Amino acid sequence: MKILGIETSCDETAAAVVENGTTILSNVVASQEELHRQYGGIVPEIASRQHMISIIPIVDQALSHSNIMPEDLDAIAVTNRPGLVGSLLIGVNMAKALALVWHKPLFAVDHIRAHIYANWLEQNAPQFPCIALVVSGGHTELILIQRNGEFKRLGGTRDDAAGEAFDKVARILKLGYPGGPAIEFAAGQGVPLHRLPRAWLKGSDDFSFSGLKTAVLHLSEKLGITSTEGLHPHIPNVAASFQESVVDVLAAKTIQAAKRERVNQILLAGGVAANTVLKETFLIRSPVEVIIPSPQLCTDNAAMVSACAFHNRSSPIQNRWDMDVYSISKYV
Ligand code: KG4
Ligand code: ZN
Repeated sequence: MKILGIETSCDETAAAVVENGTTILSNVVASQEELHRQYGGIVPEIASRQHMISIIPIVDQALSHSNIMPEDLDAIAVTNRPGLVGSLLIGVNMAKALALVWHKPLFAVDHIRAHIYANWLEQNAPQFPCIALVVSGGHTELILIQRNGEFKRLGGTRDDAAGEAFDKVARILKLGYPGGPAIEFAAGQGVPLHRLPRAWLKGSDDFSFSGLKTAVLHLSEKLGITSTEGLHPHIPNVAASFQESVVDVLAAKTIQAAKRERVNQILLAGGVAANTVLKETFLIRSPVEVIIPSPQLCTDNAAMVSACAFHNRSSPIQNRWDMDVYSISKYV
């Protein structure tokens, strides 16, 4: 079964063709990073307008790279939640139009679920029961999956998402946008010298990163980072200390939940899962197997949308021309 996936929930315009939810035939992503960099974050209206410009060439490329003709596609899948509403509308309308003219079934996909299914695009299919930690710019979700399609939210962030914390701290440290890769790079030049707070929120599977972000701001003021023009020599150590704190909490709490729920595997997903220190920490500390998608499948892409649709193809949301878009996920 070959599914064309379309993803426009945030600032990446993406399309992909995936066979049987596992084999990528094409995976095309147009990033808007350059466009939003000058604003230090995503500007929703600019994102929607850029999706409108990119969507047709990106879908066209995904089809031509896959060597698949439209008549050989079995279905079309599109992210319809959660995300920026103006951005989601572009992808959903494109998918509806293609499904209508090509007479294909249409699947609506939840972006958080799609991130999890990026793990099915790697060599070995995950084993149930497992726990998925989705850490992206907008979400930090801990989800128990007893069997395929059976999702139970154990916890999530009470304030900032993990990726959002990386982006905000990068702004404090004047490292630019997007913050995650910039912090990871700066942290690689330093050591975690400063002991920054960790919100353990004992007795729950929730996370919190806003206190840590404030602590970084106060430390940066004390060290003179915020009042200095250009790059300050303390930045690498502060970046490394921040990264260590985020990774420590994510790994400790996820592993604790995995042991309690007696799962076979931990699946990492979302843009923050591209972080090397996060990956290494999970691999070293976890007594259960940890599956991590390759970096280009951690960040937003459409192959994960096709995979999610395939593995949940009995989902009732099909061929609904009134399919709408939503800013929130089903899991939060
Ligand atoms: O999953 P994603 O591409 O988009 C959303 O669904 O939000 O995640 C983007 C987030 C951004 O906050 C970005 O700073 C973060 O993932 N990110 C990273 C790294 N690469 C991307 N965070 C930490 N380390 C990285 N290497
Ligand atoms: Zn995402």
